[in-house]
Amino acid sequence: MTVAAVVPAAGSGSRLGADVPKAFVPLAGVPVVVRAVDGLLGSGAVDEVLVAVPAALLDHARDLFAGRPVRVLVGGADRTASVRLALDVLCADRPVGTAAGHAAHGGERPGRPGGDGPPEIVLVHDAARPLTPPALIAAVVAAVRAGHPAVVPALALADTVKRVARSAGSGVGADTVERTVDRSELRAAQTPQGFAFETLRRAYEKSGADGIATDDAGLVERLGEPVVTVPGDPAAFKVTTPWDLRIAELLLAEAS
Ligand code: CTP
Ligand code: MG
Repeated sequence: MTVAAVVPAAGSGSRLGADVPKAFVPLAGVPVVVRAVDGLLGSGAVDEVLVAVPAALLDHARDLFAGRPVRVLVGGADRTASVRLALDVLCADRPVGTAAGHAAHGGERPGRPGGDGPPEIVLVHDAARPLTPPALIAAVVAAVRAGHPAVVPALALADTVKRVARSAGSGVGADTVERTVDRSELRAAQTPQGFAFETLRRAYEKSGADGIATDDAGLVERLGEPVVTVPGDPAAFKVTTPWDLRIAELLLAEAS
């Protein structure tokens, strides 16, 4: 079974506030998205990666990934749109040499390695999780191969969780606690999330062009299909703020 990974990397990184989009911020000298993609390819469980990037960085990204089994495309206005555009590219794949395949690629873009149509399995993995352990990636793929159509790495929450009533303000008293939530039933979902390709394709199809979700499994949940978890890994954390970037730099320095 072939496995493709979709890496949404087209965000601006507003919470990080760097002078380049988050995926292109160097982390110990290597752009965040390159670390994420090399983790996928290095897991040995992924055949090809599609990376969705900001339009202004398309040529730069193609240079970054030259020589790797990576296709680069322009992403959309939100994460869901970026993933959808990459899935559209995979759906358009046809066996090499067929007329439909050449038409879908404008007659010039080469087919996927193997050229045997869409993959059986697809992962969706945030570019912003550059330190994701290859073993986690392999575990997600293994769970899909074992017959689970949707697989999510998940971590229990360490902090006590409160439900609050929000107000417009900020600072002391802006939020009023309504109650403490039972965290034993709560999990934080990470990526890569793994899917039978056909399941994720249907989930995106059903959600419609305006469907927005903060993760991909959320769209499969709306199909009413089962989503299972595998144990997540703290190292798969998402770089969101300058603090996260600092942690990532420290972890890499420790490892080197
Ligand atoms: N993403 C994307 N296309 C978008 C928005 C986000 O491909 N239009 C990607 C990001 O590049 C990131 C992943 O989705 O790899 C998770 O999103 P997030 O962490 O929110 O990244 P940003 O949207 O870039 O950051 P922020 O929300 O702080 O602006
Ligand atoms: Mg965002």
